[in-house]
Amino acid sequence: MCGIVGYVGNDQAAPILLKGLEKLEYRGYDSAGVAVYDGTSIQVVKKQGRLKVLEDKIHNGADLAGTVGIGHTRWATHGKPSDVNAHPHLSSSGRFAVVHNGIIENYLSLKNSLIQKGYSFVSETDTEVIAQLLDYFYEGDLLDAVVRTIGKIEGSYALGILCRDQPDRIIGIRKDSPLIVGLGTGENFIASDIPAILGKTRDIYRLKENEIAVVEKTGVTVYNPKKVFVSKTPCHIDWDVSAAEKGGYDHFMAKEIMEQPKAVRDTISPRIKNGRIVLDDIQLTEEQLRNLSRIFIVACGSAYHVGVVAKYILERYTRIPVEVDVASEFRYRAPVVDNRVLVIIISQSGETADTLAALREAKRLGARTLSIVNVVGSSIANESDDVIYTWAGPEIAVATTKAYSTQLAVIYLLAIYIADKIGTMKPEEYRHYISELEALPDKIEKTLSGRDHVRQLARRFYRSNDIFFIGRNLDYAMSLEGSLKLKEISYIHSEAYAAGELKHGTISLIEEGTLVVALATQQKLFEKMMGNVKEVKARGAVVLGVTTEDNQQIEKETDCAIYIPRTCEMMLPSLAVLPLQAFAYYVASLKGCDIDKPRNLAKSVTVE
Ligand code: AGP
Repeated sequence: MCGIVGYVGNDQAAPILLKGLEKLEYRGYDSAGVAVYDGTSIQVVKKQGRLKVLEDKIHNGADLAGTVGIGHTRWATHGKPSDVNAHPHLSSSGRFAVVHNGIIENYLSLKNSLIQKGYSFVSETDTEVIAQLLDYFYEGDLLDAVVRTIGKIEGSYALGILCRDQPDRIIGIRKDSPLIVGLGTGENFIASDIPAILGKTRDIYRLKENEIAVVEKTGVTVYNPKKVFVSKTPCHIDWDVSAAEKGGYDHFMAKEIMEQPKAVRDTISPRIKNGRIVLDDIQLTEEQLRNLSRIFIVACGSAYHVGVVAKYILERYTRIPVEVDVASEFRYRAPVVDNRVLVIIISQSGETADTLAALREAKRLGARTLSIVNVVGSSIANESDDVIYTWAGPEIAVATTKAYSTQLAVIYLLAIYIADKIGTMKPEEYRHYISELEALPDKIEKTLSGRDHVRQLARRFYRSNDIFFIGRNLDYAMSLEGSLKLKEISYIHSEAYAAGELKHGTISLIEEGTLVVALATQQKLFEKMMGNVKEVKARGAVVLGVTTEDNQQIEKETDCAIYIPRTCEMMLPSLAVLPLQAFAYYVASLKGCDIDKPRNLAKSVTVE
């Protein structure tokens, strides 16, 4: 996510903006910038790289005189990290400066219509369109220009706006991306998040959806999009800085688990227009898709587990053979790859050494490459033929959750897109899956609302020494991720097994009281799974079942159960993974582990 800070008061704005941006650095970013009204015009300074590069450039703000300004730390979504793509963005007239957190889904059409009206653009970003649009609508009434502008844009946004003609105020607006107003004495603020203003004030307004704050040093007025005054009640923040950075959660992992509905929505909705999947991101042609002999999916860790899910889905819906490899194996097994092969690389960081090396090997062998990456401009993204970005925002916790979920979402988009293009999916099926995709974020939200039940189960089992996860088909793929999540952060030994394979040896490890988590969401294999449950129970196991909410019969066979909402079978992994993430989190929390920074692990493994 990007970071926004705004200031209007009696002090020099630039140093205050930089201090506020420093407090947002934990969110992750690739560039930073500030815009300050100097009494005549808006001065903008913005730099790719760490905030210190910007601070050095403007001597910690001393070079920028003025008491009104906005600042930004950018997490790139559209347009690679660069000085020119950094925020704030200035309208061609120099009248408006804008900082933005979110994604403008219709920016290309708006950009084209503005170009036809004579506007020119200097950046690749969606945000620059907002600055130009404000200028286009401005006829002297700032609030009116703002309302008309947000009436045209679709997508998610938190905006900070500075207008040269009305330099005694800044405007803050939010839709889907958070924005708060900091209430000082003789000075006021806007910010994406509380840490940015805690050093100045603990009294804030939390803006609600579509509310517009007009922030002056003497006071703050809030309007709705109809320009009707909205009465706000200040709230006082008691959090310390550490709690504030986590949004009040105990850990980044907890915060990121709860961000999954938004992350999946942000990843899916810009890619569904009028009921059709639109993958503007990729150049892969229909002819190339029809000529594919095989798909390889290559990744590490949880990203590899997404690849295991993807194999089942892509083969089932596209009938193209799929191989899945851990990157460190792919590189050295002389894979049968040529120019009729598509290699899909999955990586949150886009910097994992084994995965990057596998990408290079795939290209050397002549394959077409498509990467699914969360970090814009990362090495894997830059070196792939095509990239589909997961717009999960920065993921801080070492154990991935929201990035994993958005990778699954991209796999669904890709499978449906390819199946439709090569004719292996009927139109009515296509429509069905599109509607299930659009409903998925709400079902993720609904599943997360049941996390207290998972917390109770964690209390019952957190002293376990060995925990097994078993499943069949997509549930087997989920057992891999459930087991890794648990191991990573709780340090409890765990194994994931194809349920039908257990009896071929590993079942010898099942003893009295051994916990087995049986994933049984795939309806067609439910009875088979119940057979496997009986097998392990006969050897003393305690079984925790995971299935869909209409399948209460599971409790006839298992000792306890977790239910997830129904959705199409292809997308059940997106719901089944949530209680597994929560179970791992609560177990690790009860064990007092360092959840965000587990021992021996790094967020991005950039060594082989
Ligand atoms: C997952 O929780 C781990 N952090 C780890 O397995 C991770 O998925 C793996 O290292 C791959 O990282 P990447 O997605 O950044 O390439």
